[in-house]
Amino acid sequence: MTRFEPSGPLRGALRPPSDKSISHRAALIAAMGEGETEISGYLDAADTRSTLRAVSALGAEVNLGFALKEIDRAPGLGAQERSLLLPPGLGLTVRGVGLRGAAPAAIDVGNAGTLLRLLPGWLAGQEGGRWTLDGDESIRARPVDRIAVPLRRMGARLHAREDRLPPLEIEGTTLHGATYEMPIASAQVKSCLLFAGLLAGGETRVVEPLPSRDHTERMLAAAGASIERDGDTVAVRPAERLEPGPLSVPADISSAAFFIVAALLADGSDVLLRDVNVNPTRTGLLSVLERMGAQVEREAESEEGGEPIADLRVCPAPLRGTDVGAAEIPLAIDELPLVALAACFAEGTTTIRDAEELRRKESDRIETVTAALRALGGKVEPTEDGMVIEGTGGLRGGTIDSHGDHRIAMLGAVAGLASEQGVEVNGMDAAAVSYPNFEADLASLLSR
Ligand code: S3P
Repeated sequence: MTRFEPSGPLRGALRPPSDKSISHRAALIAAMGEGETEISGYLDAADTRSTLRAVSALGAEVNLGFALKEIDRAPGLGAQERSLLLPPGLGLTVRGVGLRGAAPAAIDVGNAGTLLRLLPGWLAGQEGGRWTLDGDESIRARPVDRIAVPLRRMGARLHAREDRLPPLEIEGTTLHGATYEMPIASAQVKSCLLFAGLLAGGETRVVEPLPSRDHTERMLAAAGASIERDGDTVAVRPAERLEPGPLSVPADISSAAFFIVAALLADGSDVLLRDVNVNPTRTGLLSVLERMGAQVEREAESEEGGEPIADLRVCPAPLRGTDVGAAEIPLAIDELPLVALAACFAEGTTTIRDAEELRRKESDRIETVTAALRALGGKVEPTEDGMVIEGTGGLRGGTIDSHGDHRIAMLGAVAGLASEQGVEVNGMDAAAVSYPNFEADLASLLSR
C-alpha cells in the first residue's frame, strides 16, 4: 500500500519521461533499418524495455549508452534538476537486421499492448520465419483479432488462442497489399498494417474512421518509406530498406497529464512541464480541460524528432462538466481516466461516450476507473461505452486498487493529493510500466 496525503500546491519545473508510443516505434523501426541507429531520450520503463528485449531476440544489436552512467555520476541532484539537466531517458544504439532479416524467436511482450500489436505487422511478411508473442496476465486478455483479421486479408498466417487472444503465433509468408477500413480508430492497428505494407506486394491502404496518433507515419516517412495521407486514408508502398536517421524522443503528454491534472486541482500550484509532445493527435486532454475551464499555456514551442513540442504551464482553475465523445476519444484515449477524475472536482455533469475501447486497455478502464473513483466518494455511473460523472467539487479519499494498470495507480496518487483524507493505492508498483520515477517526480513538485 502506498499512501498519498492531501497536499499543498505543486510547484516547479520538470521534464516528464519520454514518450512511450514513440519509444516503441523508434526501437522497432531502428531494428528494421540498415546499420546503426542512434536513439536519444528512449523511455526507460518496463514496457519499452520489453521492446528492446524483443528486437534483441530478433537479432538487432542494442547498446545502452551514456545516459545511465551520467545519472550515476550525479548522485546529488534532486528529481527536478535531474530531469532538466541530464539527458532524458536512455541514449542507445540499435544495429538493425534490415526489413527482412528478423531471426525466429519466442517473444515476451510483458505488459506492452503496443508491442503486441505492432510487431506482428513487421514479422508476418518475412517468409520462412516463425515467431510466438506472449505476455503477462493482462496481455493474455487483450484482443489480437483486430490485427489478425486484416493481416490475414493480406495473406498472413497467424494463429491465436480462441482465434483472438495471445499467445499469437506468426508464420512468415508472402503478403499482398490490401485496403482495410478499420471498424474502430486504432493507431496500433494502423501501425501494424503500415509495417506489413512495407513487405507486401503492391500498395496497402488503411482507412481510419477517425484520426489517431500518427507517430508511425512520421517516423517511417523520415526513414525513407513511401507513405501518403489522403483524407482519412494512409497508403504505404513496399520498401527495399529503411534508413532511419538519428531518432530523438520528446516527453510523453500521457505522463505529463498526471501533473497537469494534479496542478489544476491543488490550490496555489504553478507547474512547468518541459519538452512535451503536443502532436495534435495526442492533445485531446488539453482541449477537454480547456472546455472545462482550465488554461494550459504553451511556451517555447519547437520541434523534436519530427514531432511538435512545447513547455506546458499549468495553474489551478475552477472546472465545469463537459461532454466528451466521437472524434475526441482517440486523441485522449489514455487520458480519459484523468478526465473522469477532474470531472469529480468540477461543477455539473461530465459524460464520456464512444469510448468502449477503454474496456480493452491494460485493465477494463470503464470498470477500474468507476471502482476507484467510487471508492473515494465520487459519483460515477459506468455505461457500455463510457461513464457519467456527477461533479461534487471534491473527493473524500479512501483506498483503491490499481489492478496492475499503471494509469490507474497514478490516477490514485493524483486523487490522493486533491482529496480531503488521502488515498491508499494498492499496487502502486504498476506505475513502472510507463513511469518508474513517478513518485519521486511528484514528491519533487510538492517539496518547493
Ligand atoms: C497506442 C495507441 C493507443 C493507446 C496505447 C498506445 C500506440 O491504442 O491507447 O496506449 O502507441 O499506438 P489504440 O491504438 O489501440 O487505441
